[in-house]
Amino acid sequence: MLGRLSLSIKYSLIFIITGVLIAAAMLVSLYYFKSEVLRNEAQAVAAQVVSFRSWVAKSGMVWVDNLSTDFHDFLSKREDAAGNFYFGKNPALATRELSEIANKSAIRATFRVTSDEYRQPLNAPDDFESRAITAFKNDDGQRYYEDYETDTYRYAQPVYVKQSCLKCHGDPEDAPKEVIEKYGADKAFGYKVGDVRGIISVKLPDLKLMDLIHNLANPITIGLILAAFLINLAYTQWGLIRRLRNLTNGAEAMSQGNLDADLPFNDPQKSRDEVDHLGGAISLLRNSLKVAMRHMNK
Ligand code: HEC
Repeated sequence: MLGRLSLSIKYSLIFIITGVLIAAAMLVSLYYFKSEVLRNEAQAVAAQVVSFRSWVAKSGMVWVDNLSTDFHDFLSKREDAAGNFYFGKNPALATRELSEIANKSAIRATFRVTSDEYRQPLNAPDDFESRAITAFKNDDGQRYYEDYETDTYRYAQPVYVKQSCLKCHGDPEDAPKEVIEKYGADKAFGYKVGDVRGIISVKLPDLKLMDLIHNLANPITIGLILAAFLINLAYTQWGLIRRLRNLTNGAEAMSQGNLDADLPFNDPQKSRDEVDHLGGAISLLRNSLKVAMRHMNK
């Protein structure tokens, strides 16, 4: 029978249930928080990729006079009057090479740019990336696409076709001959401004809920929870239970004939506290008892 347990036990039970409910609420919040943190991190990486591409695109191409052995790919080749060669890297190619370097040294985030119509076999999309591309093509308003794979968070955001892209992704007739020579005239052409050309795809190690919970085990959080517990305990013990016990003792003493027993309470007229009102009621009872006794004694 729960109803017959002491107030301190009842209150402790309620405190524990409250604690469990708050912990559950915190876990759910942590889960949302985790997704938010991962998404923010992925978006920061994607923003860097966008900036880099746009820097290369604004320059048209980056020209290098020395092809490193790891990065020997190029789109165009130029010779100056002195017979020196320069190799042009277009934005997509430069981004692919950047991503190779970045992904090798990556502690957390890796990224790449991919498309359903890829010119470069190394850019072929995987299953998640294909789903993301389809999602963006079906819904103009969708800003990002995300999913979890074993221990990995996956994020994608669309890359749209702009006017400047049409030179190499519009009509093959307009395309620089190097593009046709290298990739042919049937790959990744025929786009219009606003089309989804591809995606920036970011991979991050998933944040474990356990690791986040670990962060809660710091002295400040534990101290605050302990303080909450002690305040509750102190209030029930001294603010409630002890005062009720005092009134009980007083009433018991009265029942045994000590009509002047100590009844500690504040004036009920000036207090809204229910224990004070109980004290006031017992005190009224005591006055009636005294009057009755006086009558009987006469
Ligand atoms: C100078 C020609 C040129 C222009 C301009 C150009 N691209 Fe490309 N694009 C290419 C080439 C060449 C590739 C293949 C690169 C590689 O080998 O990784 C490519 C690849 C891509 C890819 C990767 C998928 C694939 O086909 O392998 C995306 C996405 C892409 N381009 C988007 C764009 C967008 C968006 C613009 C405009 C902002 C643009 N491109 C402008 C030539 C161009």
